[in-house]
Amino acid sequence: MASIKKVGVLGCGLMGSGIAQVAAQAGYDTVVREVEQQYLDKGFKGIEKSLGRFVDKGTMSAADRDACVGRLKGTTSLADLADCDIVIEAIIENAELKKETYVQLDKVVKPEAIFASNTSSLTITELSMATARPKQFVGLHFFNPVPLMKLVEVVRTILTSDEAFDSAFEFAKSLGKEPVACRDNSGFIVNRLLVPYLIDAIRAYEEGVGSIEDIDKAMQLGCGYPMGPFTLLDFVGLDTTYYITDVMFEEYREKRFASPALLRKMVLAGRYGRKSGAGFYDYASGKPSPMDRK
Ligand code: 3HC
Repeated sequence: MASIKKVGVLGCGLMGSGIAQVAAQAGYDTVVREVEQQYLDKGFKGIEKSLGRFVDKGTMSAADRDACVGRLKGTTSLADLADCDIVIEAIIENAELKKETYVQLDKVVKPEAIFASNTSSLTITELSMATARPKQFVGLHFFNPVPLMKLVEVVRTILTSDEAFDSAFEFAKSLGKEPVACRDNSGFIVNRLLVPYLIDAIRAYEEGVGSIEDIDKAMQLGCGYPMGPFTLLDFVGLDTTYYITDVMFEEYREKRFASPALLRKMVLAGRYGRKSGAGFYDYASGKPSPMDRK
């Protein structure tokens, strides 16, 4: 099995910064690459905030936090990922952009390194074929918030070698995560089951089954879910969910993956959820206020 010592992460957004953080926390030298310094600065601020929460809670010492930050390096140059043993891509969910990035990455990163994508719905096989190393290509799908969520879906294609898959699986464990093995089907395990549930909640609301708050409360208290569907939609991002439904509908052609009209309208209106300040709830005034409250 390939020995992983140095980790590269592409993208320092919500997911990329979280992945870089957990890799550095696990003791790996970690290089994270963004296209512009301002995105690196924003991502590193998020990492500091998250580590600060662990220190405040007493689950991490200040010395461990400093050591973790010391293992993290930000860069805007792909060439700085050249000697990484694994590179995890977490850039925006655009297949063409991802493939272009992989073509560049393939030229600069050592040939024995494993490539992984954190895509939530795109086909790993298609991404892997943009490189000369489809045998060393896997999906590593993390969950938001990455520092807290235990699961990683480890995805193999029909081309992935056993060695690369096993290395990626062990790597996920070494991050303190619980990996599960998935085949390369759009949405893998979690989004295949989660996305129809989330968009069904929107349909239920459209049909007047209940208010936003009551549907959330019902699923939280009735099923023991940590967040109701609308809180979770706002947390994941409505633009992201809309994009995932599109990719999954394209793949499966099944109504259960089709976006409800309201989701599309929310995205058109710029109500992306927490990140834009409003989605199914408005976050302007501290306590989230549902958009249907009169
Ligand atoms: N880093 C460090 N600590 C964090 C943190 C972060 N990023 N985010 C929250 N915390 C800490 C808080 O400080 C808090 O600490 P405390 O217990 O000492 O006060 C603790 O975690 C709990 O946070 P909150 O009190 O703010 O809120 P919750 O109790 O609701 O927990 C949650 C937050 C863990 C996010 C929980 O609500 C949850 O599990 N929600 C569901 C998340 C989920 O389903 N994620 C998957 C989304 S789907 C996905 O990612 C796939 C993609 O492809 C779409």
